[in-house]
Amino acid sequence: MTDTLDIKITKIAASRLAETDFSNLPFGKVFADHMFMADYADGEWKNFEILPYGPISLSPAISALHYGQSFFEGIKAYKHADGKVSIFRPDKNAIRFNKSADRLCMPQLPEELFVQTIAALVDIDREWIPGKANHALYIRPFMFATDPYLGVTPSATYKYMVLIGPVGPYFSKPLRVKVETHYTRAAEGGMGYAKAAGNYGASMLPARKAAEEGFDQLIWTDAKEHKYIEEMGAANAMFLLDGVLVTAEAKDTILDGVTRDTVIALAKDWGIPVEERKVSVAELVEGAKNGKLTDAFGAGTAATIASVASISYDSEEYFLSDPATREFSKKVLTTLDDIKYGRSEDTHGWNYMV
Ligand code: PLP
Ligand code: COI
Repeated sequence: MTDTLDIKITKIAASRLAETDFSNLPFGKVFADHMFMADYADGEWKNFEILPYGPISLSPAISALHYGQSFFEGIKAYKHADGKVSIFRPDKNAIRFNKSADRLCMPQLPEELFVQTIAALVDIDREWIPGKANHALYIRPFMFATDPYLGVTPSATYKYMVLIGPVGPYFSKPLRVKVETHYTRAAEGGMGYAKAAGNYGASMLPARKAAEEGFDQLIWTDAKEHKYIEEMGAANAMFLLDGVLVTAEAKDTILDGVTRDTVIALAKDWGIPVEERKVSVAELVEGAKNGKLTDAFGAGTAATIASVASISYDSEEYFLSDPATREFSKKVLTTLDDIKYGRSEDTHGWNYMV
């Protein structure tokens, strides 16, 4: 892969691999030896470089810091039992990367460049990919504006970077989630469909308030009426209601998740009806009461398939069935893991081999 791209490679003098505790991998805190970096200037991408992971020097006036011209992606790479390495559906993230760039007035990155730069970096640090179940190499591509200029206008220069690091599970237990009816993650015409850094900054106060009340995650609702489900924290919210897989349609307030798309494809393979539509909080509450809500989970790259233990709404907490007994999400998780770790045939062509 590296031979088709001109990447300057500077290897780390002494790998940190041996001193890394792979039995304790909190999400997002451990980084592999190398990172990728490129610059956008004069209308083109240049200076492709793989270098040791570490601090970089930037002007404090860069517009990413002041006006939030910044966005990211999240992808995972897996190690198979025979030592092969695959990245899960990076082509989908490449497309979403450019949708985010477009919304934030930032430059496009050719899709093949996105995939090739990630693959080149993963290849160099392939020893960092954990071999254990529920573990993977998390890949964090991101782009940010670098003009040292305080005028509110799109920057002319940018950096595209990729960080990678071994991770274990993001959530350690089924989640108590609260339906948020005051704050809003995204409104129509906003940037909910983009993986904009600002969307995550805006989510922190409501998430902290919910955590103070003992909840693990929020279910975001629509900005107008707070009646319809949008997403669950940093994951898409999916439900099995009366035998039908239901989830909010991927409109402009929703991040069009790769995991969501993958779950929908599997459900369709299995003949399970799928509805991408407005899902009201009222019908979920009704389903929780009458037992027709048989599965509920967040779907995301970091979150994987995160079971919902209970849904709180209007001061009532509705407990769902024991996650260990839920057939659908268990089958999704097993099927997905079998594909990602190379144990079963990848009939959809989701694994990008490195
Ligand atoms: N929704 C939001 C707001 C997210 O941050 C994520 C995580 O990436 C998702 C949904 C799930 O998307 P994906 O499955 O592509 O990781
Ligand atoms: C991911 O699932 O990759 C995400 O981006 C979630 C992250 C914000 C923790």
